[in-house]
Amino acid sequence: RKSNYPVIKSPDLIQRMRRTNALTAEVLAEVGQLVRPGITTEELDIVAHEGYIARGGYPSCVGYGSYEKSVCTSVNEVICHGIPDDRPLQDGDIVNVDVSMFKDGVHGDCSATYMVGEVSETASRLVRVTEEAMYRGINVVAPNLKINEIGRVIQDHAERHGYQVVEAFVGHGIGENFHMAPSVLHYFDRNANTRLQPGMTFTIEPMIAVGTGKDYDIWDDGWTAVTGDNSLTAQFEHTVLVTETGVEILTRL
Ligand code: MF3
Ligand code: CO
Repeated sequence: RKSNYPVIKSPDLIQRMRRTNALTAEVLAEVGQLVRPGITTEELDIVAHEGYIARGGYPSCVGYGSYEKSVCTSVNEVICHGIPDDRPLQDGDIVNVDVSMFKDGVHGDCSATYMVGEVSETASRLVRVTEEAMYRGINVVAPNLKINEIGRVIQDHAERHGYQVVEAFVGHGIGENFHMAPSVLHYFDRNANTRLQPGMTFTIEPMIAVGTGKDYDIWDDGWTAVTGDNSLTAQFEHTVLVTETGVEILTRL
């Protein structure tokens, strides 16, 4: 069932969101520790899959449309939705691992970008600025805030460092469905006027590129999204809850 208006989650559902999202964060940390030159993204996928199952969960993205893997692994110019495969990660790569799990009737979703071995100055700066931008977006969340303020602070931070926000992929409400209202844009849109209320849960997951944020391509696999100019891009993601006084990060360890 789809609605355009964000659901205010019940206390019971929020409690389940806390548990599922905390476990999702554990899986991300477990997989992230393994990132190093030589490991394949398929190996990371297997560890994540086993991590969900060990916690009584199920991968949210298996069977999501035509998707068959348990995580997305997005390397270098891949914006998001990279499919795990047998390519060994190389010294100097950056890789986003996006982990999502269904348990107790609700979804958890988070991601981080990891540096593989020794990376360029450009890459490490991009990764740092992208994580900072995500936290700036999270830190403005509070009841009654217009949702476009999240995008405003993320875009400001990216552009202050000469980077661009990728516009095509957005954060999303999450709960009993993996993707639900509201859309959470990572750039300022004057028409995104929804006001936040306690009990809303959604992701903040900016993708930021060294080059263009305006266009992108999808590979023939139907999923892998790459920057239009093949420039480097990074992403971080948390699932958050709007509280009476501000925000709670549900995918914190
Ligand atoms: N985890 C992604 C998100 O942040 C969605 C991945 S959908 C998939 O919303 F099918 F590609 F896995
Ligand atoms: Co998400």
